[in-house]
Amino acid sequence: MRRKIAAGNWKMNTLLNEGVTLAEELNTLLDGIELYDDKRVVIAVPYTHISSIINVVDYKKIAVAAQNCSQFDNGAYTGEISALMLKSIGVQYIIVGHSERRQIFGETDDIVSQKLTQCYKNAIFPILCCGESLNERESVKHLEIVGTQIKNALQNVDTFNIQRTIIAYEPIWAIGTGRTATPEQAQEMHAHIRNTIADLYTKEIANEITILYGGSVNAANSANLFAKEDIDGGLVGGASLKVNEFMQIIESL
Ligand code: PGA
Repeated sequence: MRRKIAAGNWKMNTLLNEGVTLAEELNTLLDGIELYDDKRVVIAVPYTHISSIINVVDYKKIAVAAQNCSQFDNGAYTGEISALMLKSIGVQYIIVGHSERRQIFGETDDIVSQKLTQCYKNAIFPILCCGESLNERESVKHLEIVGTQIKNALQNVDTFNIQRTIIAYEPIWAIGTGRTATPEQAQEMHAHIRNTIADLYTKEIANEITILYGGSVNAANSANLFAKEDIDGGLVGGASLKVNEFMQIIESL
């Protein structure tokens, strides 16, 4: 089902006490807000914070996500956390294939595809990230690059599981730079992603997919971005760490 989602990506920020306080504050601010099933607030917090935060937020208002998971089931993978472990503590969403994981930790499209499989196996909704570099955009390859990322990531995804998948378009040049894609640039890519899904599956399925925009979303630009036809909300980094600003972004849903 196509939902409007405001997802915060805390990345490697906040100590446990700070993160719990931030989540509690958000939970309180959401008190008067009616969030129906077609609108969701998600926070992707560090692994160390997940259990504590799940205990202090109302699950009907805030879904807690992980920022990554292992591509493997279980076993001798020192330092890794499995999707099943995350499921067992109440995680509902996992960010998969964020550009920081692809660029800094060498995640390939194949690894991304395996991580998606882990999410489906454990009934977790993946938030699948894609996006081009500045160089790729300047050489007008952005549509092709993102289309290929989507096709590669979805290579093993059937018609049932695609409907459990959220896509986040995050141009790398806009992440943490203060340089947001214009609503028109984002809309063009979102429509392209939706068309790619329609080609791989059906038009009906493509219309039901939630596609988020990420990259320097803030309280000043969120309403204009979210007003675009194919933009169903945001994946918000820096601004999700400021509770009042994140609330304004949620309100612009
Ligand atoms: P940003 O990060 O909002 O700080 O640009 C977005 C993201 O990386 O998900």
